[in-house]
Amino acid sequence: MKALILSGGYGTRLRPLTYSQQKQLIPVANKPVLFYAIEDVIEVGVKEIGIITGPNREQVIETVSSVEWDAEITFIHQGDPKGLAHAILVAEEFLGDDEFVMYLGDNILRDGVLEHASKFRKLKPDSLILLTEVDEPQRFGVAELDEGGRVKRLVEKPKVPPSNYALVGIYFFKPVIIEACKNIKPSWRNELEITDAIQWLIDNEYRVEASIVKGWWKDTGKPEDILEANRLILEDIQPKNEGKAENSRIVGRVVIGPRTVIKNSVIKGPCVIGENCRIVNSYIGPYTSIGNNCEIEETEIEDSVIMDGSKIINAGRIVESLIGRNVHVQEYNYMPKGHRLILGDNSNIVL
Ligand code: DAU
Repeated sequence: MKALILSGGYGTRLRPLTYSQQKQLIPVANKPVLFYAIEDVIEVGVKEIGIITGPNREQVIETVSSVEWDAEITFIHQGDPKGLAHAILVAEEFLGDDEFVMYLGDNILRDGVLEHASKFRKLKPDSLILLTEVDEPQRFGVAELDEGGRVKRLVEKPKVPPSNYALVGIYFFKPVIIEACKNIKPSWRNELEITDAIQWLIDNEYRVEASIVKGWWKDTGKPEDILEANRLILEDIQPKNEGKAENSRIVGRVVIGPRTVIKNSVIKGPCVIGENCRIVNSYIGPYTSIGNNCEIEETEIEDSVIMDGSKIINAGRIVESLIGRNVHVQEYNYMPKGHRLILGDNSNIVL
């Protein structure tokens, strides 16, 4: 089986972070979201992975290539995000005549895809889709099932959802899906929708099976989703301290990277602090991820994601925040007093 992982698109709901960073490279517990997808498909024995790239192609190639994977990786350029089914058409040559798993690079699944891959291998349907019950089905593709639990109909982001079963962004396909993608028309949002292609399979009497996801699943489309995914991943981390702590208290499950120095501070897990950071006179609380080369002084941070190279000095208490790379936050102690902000387009500040 091959894998097609999607790492294109503009990630508009995560601006301003996505002006400079491809959405699937945003870190959750200090690891790019995309890496969780790569690890999951390698776990089910996939040896050939195609990664769809879009606007920040070079960044994706550089980040993925910085790790040695136990699989061959091919980058396939899509350019403009014209839909999930369009991405399959762009990858037609790579996919050839093989069955494959398509994995949206911004999705994280707690338990991986082992169970679903073996169901696909055992039942041999033309497609196996993953479903899970959600509170707001109108945000997703939604499946209508018949009394026997078979997929009857799929609708993309319906105003009136036929059920609470959302389509998780992971799909198993036989090569006939390529024919389906060629036979559909762009939707109202001008995209070739994968839901329409799967519906084409159903309408043409191909077999589509569903597999229900039991552990948590997160589509990291919005800032609050990233924070939630960060909490969920940190919930399961194992402690490891490779740094140096002086006159500090480290409580609970905490990961501290090499060359990181912690002075006169309290660190309360679950949290992860990257390499080469300096944490001084500060409190780092539960559900916080701090990237590499960060400096935190005289500040309290809780339930947040702070990315590489950021400096936060004398900043009071920071909660539920998503802070990009090389950001500088500091209290200003001179006249005239007041907030001094240099913010990129679409920034979001709550004072
Ligand atoms: O996350 C699950 C949902 O994903 C499903 O429930 C929906 O049925 C499915 O259409 C999809 O909906 P989204 O609106 O979340 O899709 P989005 O446009 O965010 O794209 C999903 C990922 O695929 C994202 O990482 C960007 C990437 N992508 C997207 C498009 C449209 C591409 O690489 N190329 C594309 O053309």
